[in-house]
Amino acid sequence: MSSVKPSVYVTRRVPLPGKEILATECNVTQWDQDDPVPRDELLRQVKGKDGIFCLLTEKIDEELILAAGPQLKVVGTMSVGYDHVDLAACKKHNIKVGFTPGVLTNAVAELTVALLLTTSRRLKEAMAEVVNGGWGTWKPLWLCGQGLDGATVGIVGLGRIGLTVGKCLKPFAVQKFLYSDAFENPGAAEIDAQRVPLDELLANSDFVLACCALTPETREMFNKDVFKKMKKNAIFINTSRGGVVQQDDLYDALKSGEIGAAGLDVTVPEPLPTNSPLLTLNNCVILPHIASATDKSRSSMSELTARNILAALNGEKMPTQVRI
Ligand code: DGY
Repeated sequence: MSSVKPSVYVTRRVPLPGKEILATECNVTQWDQDDPVPRDELLRQVKGKDGIFCLLTEKIDEELILAAGPQLKVVGTMSVGYDHVDLAACKKHNIKVGFTPGVLTNAVAELTVALLLTTSRRLKEAMAEVVNGGWGTWKPLWLCGQGLDGATVGIVGLGRIGLTVGKCLKPFAVQKFLYSDAFENPGAAEIDAQRVPLDELLANSDFVLACCALTPETREMFNKDVFKKMKKNAIFINTSRGGVVQQDDLYDALKSGEIGAAGLDVTVPEPLPTNSPLLTLNNCVILPHIASATDKSRSSMSELTARNILAALNGEKMPTQVRI
C-alpha cells in the first residue's frame, strides 16, 4: 500500500472485527446505523473511495461504480450471495469482488433444519394453540405433522450449504437424499445423495429444499409448474433468496393444497409487507432472513469481508474472491 492510506466506506453498522481490521490500514467512514443507507447518500459517500464494504441490501451497479470514481478497486460484500452485485460492471471497471463463503455455512444449515422442523411438525400452530386456549386434552389426531423418519429429501443446489444441511438431516433417519444441480458434487457421497433431473426430484421428495444461488437461471424457478410436480404433502423450504420463488404461485399452491407446507427465511420483498397473503396461511412459516444470524457467523463474515478488501488494496490474493 502507498504511504497515503486508502479509504473504505462501510455501508452499515457491522460486527466490530471488520471495522477494526480495516482501520489498521485504511481511513474508514461508515453509515453507522442498523437500517440501510439511503441510495442518494450512498452515491455521495462512495465518491473517492478505494474500497466499499457492503451488504446484500446495497445494489452495486454501474451507477454506483461511476459515482465512486476510477480509483475504486474492490467491493467486499458481507454475504455469501452476491446477486446484488453487477459482476459485469465490476469486471468492466476492473473492480475485484469479495464475498464470505464458508464462515456462515453451519449457521445457515442449522437454521434451515430449524425451519424445516418448525414447518413439518407444525410448531407455529402448536405454539399459538398454547397461548390462545386451543390446547384441550391430549388428542391422538391433533396437530400431527410429517417426520423425517423414512422421508426422501430433495436438495436443489448441492453446494456447501446444501451438503451441510444434508449432513445435519441424515441422523433423523432420512431414507434417501436426491439432489439436482448443474454439476456433480463429489461430497454427495457423504450423504449417499443421488443426482437426478429436477422433475424426478420433485416427483419423489417429501421435502424440497432450495439451497441454490439466485441467478438468471434460478429466478422464479419455483413456480406453479414446479409446485404441480411436487407431492401433495411436499414441504418446501427456502433459505437461499426469495427471488427463486414465484410467490403468488406459492401462495396458490399452499392455499389449494397442491403442496403441504412451506418454510421461508427469504421473501420478495424484504421485509415482507405485513398484509402479505402468505402470512394468513397456517401452513406457511416465515422468518425474517436470519439464517446466518449467529454472533460467531456474523462476526466472521465481517472479518472476512475486511480481509478481502485489505488483500485487494494491497494487491494480494483475496481470501475469498468472486471469480468474474
Ligand atoms: C448471505 O450471506 O447471502 C445470506 O443470505 C445472509 O447471511
